[in-house]
Amino acid sequence: MTTQETQPETDVPALVFPTGFVWGAATSAYQIEGSTGAEGRGPSIWDTFVRQPGRVLNGETADVAIDHYRRYRDDVAVMADLGLTAYRFSVSWPRIQPDGAGAVNEAGLDFYRRLVDELLDHDIEPWLTLYHWDLPQPLEDLGGWPLRDTSKRFADFAACVHQALGDRVRNWTTVNEPWCAAFLGYASGEHAPGRRDPAASIRAAHHLNLAHGLAVQALRAQGPGARIGGSVNLYAITPASQDEADLDAARRIDGLQNRFFLDALMKGSYPEDVIADLSEVADFDFVQDGDMETISTPFDTLMVNYYSRFTVSGKPGGAASAAAAPTGAGSPWPGSEQVSFVNGGRPVTSMGWEIDDIGLLEVLQRVARDYPGIPMVISENGAAFDDVLADGAVDDQERLAYIDAHLRTCHTAIEAGIPLKGYFAWSLMDNFEWAWGYGKRFGLVHVDYATQLRTPKASALWYADTIRRGGLSA
Ligand code: NOJ
Repeated sequence: MTTQETQPETDVPALVFPTGFVWGAATSAYQIEGSTGAEGRGPSIWDTFVRQPGRVLNGETADVAIDHYRRYRDDVAVMADLGLTAYRFSVSWPRIQPDGAGAVNEAGLDFYRRLVDELLDHDIEPWLTLYHWDLPQPLEDLGGWPLRDTSKRFADFAACVHQALGDRVRNWTTVNEPWCAAFLGYASGEHAPGRRDPAASIRAAHHLNLAHGLAVQALRAQGPGARIGGSVNLYAITPASQDEADLDAARRIDGLQNRFFLDALMKGSYPEDVIADLSEVADFDFVQDGDMETISTPFDTLMVNYYSRFTVSGKPGGAASAAAAPTGAGSPWPGSEQVSFVNGGRPVTSMGWEIDDIGLLEVLQRVARDYPGIPMVISENGAAFDDVLADGAVDDQERLAYIDAHLRTCHTAIEAGIPLKGYFAWSLMDNFEWAWGYGKRFGLVHVDYATQLRTPKASALWYADTIRRGGLSA
């Protein structure tokens, strides 16, 4: 890396981030590790799903992914070269508890012990996510997330991981993006386990929330050391017009995407209007006494994944979802069949997601206003573009501009007094993008899937420089 040479130490940025601001990048286990059969790992719902014809574009699997399980040392060296102060990764539940309950596979835990030690040796703070969508298949066979017991299994798993790693990992996140796990997994079927059962998806959403709350309690029970995060994927949402139908569509989608999870985690309730919207689909009989108190057990940091804005209409004619799924999938919006997603007229990434950094500011302002006091971290933000590797380099100016714009927004938010403590780019490296397989590249670092060669893109070099300088130019 030559950033030191190209940017003199005296290059003081105009937009300085606070001391201690967390500069990170994120990944998840299933998307990068590979070695899915190694050292006692059991199958996850994604191992099953990728083998079903038509589920993943071109039938790709993550059996090898980017071979991080075997190359983690090299990957940590890449992070150190970039100057990351933190790395967000997830642990694979079926690597640690192949059956999803009971016996622990020490070899699986050892992998994460080695990874964490390697990070600490390089002064990179580990930010560990306990669940990033790779449910052990035996738990799905018993009923998966629509089954209440899965939440309890998850709390046991959380305790077991904390017993092994709590001495060296301070930052813990429970369930990554429960909206996706519930509604892409059990309503649209775009993600594993691929079910298309709207009623089951609402139960799944509740049990994912319950899993979060039980895990917070399980971690807290082990001592005061852990700083615990709850994760949400928030969208800015705009009605297509001020017509009543469009305003109602915006309320509905905001309800199911944002407030259903924010209210549960931070207020201990589900929004009345969302319950009413879902009345044809779910009667909420699965909410038991004490659940909402458990779900709203206080935690330390709201982990916000932000990518885009939805523009929604209550009139027919638009799309059933914001961007096309790669494979035939149903709607991920139970109870919102009348809503359609329309083109907001912004430039898009290669996912078809509209680029809107102002939306990030709206999201942060909204949380600060409606759920005051909770510190926030951007736990994912980034973009897929059709990168070209030429002469050993990737000049990904669009990704660089995307991250630059969103970091500027972060700076604006901090200046406005919003308690934003850090930023994790998604993703550190190109990887397995779920139903899209390897077709979409989100990495700061390019991966050649044939050779596993890692090449930092222009965005990575720029990000390294931004971290080194502690901020952005005017
Ligand atoms: C959110 C998910 O957490 C991550 O796994 C995914 O790759 C990115 N968004 C991009 O779709």
